Amino acid sequence: MRSFSLIFKQFSRSVLLVACFAFLGTQAHAQGDAAKGEALFKSKCTACHKVESEVVGPALGKLVTEETDDKYLTKWIQNNQALIAAKNPKAVAIFNQYQQKNMTIFADLSDGDVANILAYIRADWKAKSAAPAPGTATGAPAEEKGPSKILIFSLLGVIVIAFIIILVLNRVIATLERMLVKNQGALLVETAEGEAVEQVDKLAWLKKLARNKKFVFFVLICGTLFVGVWGFIGMWTTNVHQGYQPVQPIKFPHDLHAGAMQIDCQYCHSGAYKSKNASIPSLNVCMNCHKTVKTESPEIHKIYDALGYDPKTQKYDSTKSRPMQWIRIHNLPDLAYFNHSQHVKVGKIKCQTCHGPVQTMKEVYQYSPLTMKWCIQCHKRTAVDYKDNAYYTNLEQVHKLLKDGKTPTAALMGGIECGKCHY
Ligand code: HEC
Ligand code: HEC
Ligand code: HEC
Ligand code: HEC
Ligand code: HEC
Ligand code: HEC
Repeated sequence: MRSFSLIFKQFSRSVLLVACFAFLGTQAHAQGDAAKGEALFKSKCTACHKVESEVVGPALGKLVTEETDDKYLTKWIQNNQALIAAKNPKAVAIFNQYQQKNMTIFADLSDGDVANILAYIRADWKAKSAAPAPGTATGAPAEEKGPSKILIFSLLGVIVIAFIIILVLNRVIATLERMLVKNQGALLVETAEGEAVEQVDKLAWLKKLARNKKFVFFVLICGTLFVGVWGFIGMWTTNVHQGYQPVQPIKFPHDLHAGAMQIDCQYCHSGAYKSKNASIPSLNVCMNCHKTVKTESPEIHKIYDALGYDPKTQKYDSTKSRPMQWIRIHNLPDLAYFNHSQHVKVGKIKCQTCHGPVQTMKEVYQYSPLTMKWCIQCHKRTAVDYKDNAYYTNLEQVHKLLKDGKTPTAALMGGIECGKCHY
């Protein structure tokens, strides 16, 4: 009979082990976390893709489920243009099939992120193709932050409940065994002890539990892991404002202006092409159109008020004008230097690579995390376009001199550029 109890002990031990591993597993971002993938997919891909049907790009459910070469898919998603440039036959085929439309480059997605997205697409496709009822899953890119946290908490809950059940069962078995022994009339001494124990107040087994080293150890481990994960997530996301979308003084719709009307970003953010700052347009730019467009809208009247413009007399009163206080969304700390023209003009990176599908946003939100990791990951993955670029031509010249055993002058290294000596 003892053996029964022993088996249980062993069983509980293995449950503990499995639970611990499972817990550690979720912490290490188990490969292919569909919940995380869903959030990423909804924020980055739904502008052009659906799982079940074709939008701008192909329907991804069937395609991704049938394409088993994850390495290829990862490369494609991170930088499809590099694959096309390298004349990868699969990439070229799909590119031509879709009339050479360009898919966005997602250099900021890590291999893990892509695995999560693929896991989500496959799971979603499996669910959708299993249940043909077309669920109208047209939710806007909902802010789904923290499914992983929910996962961790529910897992912890399950572990604790499983452990309690095991403890209770173990106790029941022990009692049953004692009764058996008692009925057989053997070992009178032990029964007497057993009864005595049961008569002591109920707190006794709690005390026993507290003396159970394995149990205390388990609780301590759980507690430490819990606090650790909590603290880690908290610190990791400190000062990261991905998804930040403040209420602006005027509800300026980018989807209308940059999307439906296809006004070029440059029309309003010309700074991005020639200077460090992209800059927000002055209200006079709006007046080019809104002097006559939507003059009755209360939102447009906010423009008039700020400019001191009276739509009836069509006159400006400069004494009444005040600056429009747009709330800044993207904001790097002062210790980091970021230059738009270097990226947009020289690096030829599209605004959307960093700012997301602005042309579909009702109101702009911060799309990228803007962390140092984000900058560096892209720098590691993006090849520079060195052709027709004076800077790189100069570098080539320097290398040629070095190769020929000559030494380049300071001037060749940029020593006569005004900006190197003057603020
Ligand atoms: C700006 C629109 C756009 C966005 C955003 C976009 N795609 Fe695409 N995608 C396309 C187009 C267009 C194609 C078809 C191929 C082509 O023309 O380049 C495509 C093709 C694909 C393919 C097929 C590749 C192959 O070889 O069969 C996959 C997989 C894919 N996209 C995944 C994604 C994922 C994942 C995301 C989000 C991270 C995403 N796409 C975001 C437009 C987009
Ligand atoms: C008609 C003018 C206009 C056009 C066209 C336009 N924008 Fe804007 N943009 C604004 C205004 C005004 C704001 C400030 C209000 C706001 O944040 O919504 C702004 C804000 C932004 C911001 C957030 C700035 C911050 O505070 O961090 C980004 C990013 C942005 N625009 C990107 C783009 C991109 C990319 C395009 C092209 C696809 C574009 N804009 C086209 C007028 C325009
Ligand atoms: C090239 C012309 C053009 C420029 C420049 C322009 N808009 Fe517009 N805007 C329009 C048009 C056209 C509509 C109306 C679309 C429609 O019929 O709903 C509109 C609609 C709007 C609306 C929605 C009004 C409502 O009640 O639905 C707001 C708000 C707005 N614009 C703000 C701005 C601001 C702020 C700027 C300057 C940063 C600006 N627009 C620059 C053409 C322009
Ligand atoms: C390589 C990534 C990247 C690209 C490409 C990019 N931006 Fe930005 N953008 C940023 C970062 C980072 C900030 C925050 C800068 C800061 O706080 O100093 C920013 C800030 C902005 C702002 C807020 C005002 C400002 O000047 O700081 C606007 C508006 C903006 N970007 C528009 C654009 C437009 C329009 C384009 C395309 C022509 C573009 N961006 C391309 C990364 C990028
Ligand atoms: C989407 C990819 C991408 C992202 C994101 C990005 N960069 Fe870049 N960055 C580039 C490319 C490409 C170049 C090279 C452009 C060239 O040819 O000079 C570059 C160049 C630079 C340079 C000039 C380096 C040199 O030696 O001249 C600086 C500084 C820089 N980036 C800062 C940043 C910072 C800060 C961030 C994050 C806030 C950032 N970048 C995010 C792609 C990116
Ligand atoms: C190698 C460093 C260096 C470079 C490159 C350089 N300068 Fe200067 N510049 C100086 C110094 C040092 C002074 C101060 C000399 C003095 O006070 O007599 C100066 C002075 C000046 C002044 C006079 C300022 C005054 O208050 O009198 C002007 C204007 C000027 N530079 C413009 C330029 C321009 C434009 C370029 C680019 C074509 C340039 N500099 C490149 C180092 C440099």
